[in-house]
Amino acid sequence: MKRALTLVAATLACSAASFAIAIAQTDEPIEPVRPPRSINLGMVELGKKLYFDPRLSKSGWISCNSCHNLSMGGSDNIPTSIGDQWQQGPINAPTVLNSSLNLAQFWDGRAADLKAQAGGPIANPGEMAFSHTLALGVLESIPAYVREFKQVFGKDKIDIDQVTLAIAEFEKTLVTPNSRFDQWLLGRKDALSVDELAGYALFKDSGCVACHNGEAVGGNSFQKMGVVEPFKKDDPATGRFAVTGKDADRFNYKVPTLRNVELTYPYFHDGSANTLTEAVRVMGRIQLGKDFSAQETGQIVAFLKTLTGDQPNFALPILPPSSDATPRPQPFLPKK
Ligand code: HEC
Ligand code: HEC
Repeated sequence: MKRALTLVAATLACSAASFAIAIAQTDEPIEPVRPPRSINLGMVELGKKLYFDPRLSKSGWISCNSCHNLSMGGSDNIPTSIGDQWQQGPINAPTVLNSSLNLAQFWDGRAADLKAQAGGPIANPGEMAFSHTLALGVLESIPAYVREFKQVFGKDKIDIDQVTLAIAEFEKTLVTPNSRFDQWLLGRKDALSVDELAGYALFKDSGCVACHNGEAVGGNSFQKMGVVEPFKKDDPATGRFAVTGKDADRFNYKVPTLRNVELTYPYFHDGSANTLTEAVRVMGRIQLGKDFSAQETGQIVAFLKTLTGDQPNFALPILPPSSDATPRPQPFLPKK
């Protein structure tokens, strides 16, 4: 317990500086989500198509949206994702909503930003199982894509940098402002119910805000999963240790955003908590040494549900058809 308190105090101290401006504005450790700034609209439209295009996968069936479904909070709502050939993924798919606010991408932060992240899944054998060269070959074979890339980037050849830049630009638009909680922060004092406000008070006073704070209510630090009590005795994942090799980073994970958390079940890196109620109980116990009553848990859950913002809203992109020259998808293993 003492360790938890020290950690919480230290985190609060170092986040205080970066949130000084926000605190001056709202006096609260959480800031409203801002709409995206300085977006290249041509790039966004192209990135949107690529995000929904399953032809960037070997099977011709898996797109970014398969695992980060924008109709379901930017997640897949299963414990770990399903990849090429129905492979069982090793880890829970985090939401892409508000991911532009993350200090780094992936649970262990191994990608610096959205552009660096976006090339990964296309070539990951357990996800889209393609290669960058093959994906570029598909795009180059589709005349409407060739024209659109040229229009947006002004180059004769499509390269992977253009693909990942466009996807990242589209992802920057996937922010969710205007949640009821943000309306409250911005002065609409009747936006929250008595129970929701009680939940927010518990969230602050118990120390959840030490790790879950800022615009994304998370996403801005790596923290240990299991500060007071270990999460699991037999957890095969090592978290940030896999990136830094430092023992102190063992079981450290990027603190997930709690924006839209109502939509992004199941929870934790292994998807082991099915409900928000369970996730809140586990957090209270293993991060803070607190056993919340049923009423307290209910109030925190009620508060968390006020963090659901306006979901991205656009016409589904219509993808340009393949040409005679487009390599065909390989959804099934060759027959023996
Ligand atoms: C087969 C399922 C699957 C597909 C397809 C997929 N992803 Fe992911 N995505 C995941 C999983 C699982 C993770 C977490 C991996 C980790 O942290 O080790 C992830 C992580 C991410 C993250 C990091 C979010 C965060 O908070 O750290 C972003 C952004 C993302 N994916 C975007 C994309 C884009 C863009 C595409 C398409 C090019 C894509 N994903 C395709 C499953 C998938
Ligand atoms: C010491 C830092 C820390 C504190 C304090 C903390 N959390 Fe977390 N929280 C994390 C980390 C790290 C994760 C991701 C852990 C994982 O999946 O391995 C997480 C995950 C979650 C999740 C699951 C989100 C998702 O998308 O999977 C919820 C919900 C949550 N926390 C709520 C809370 C609440 C409520 C409190 C206070 C009772 C709290 N947290 C206190 C660091 C913290």
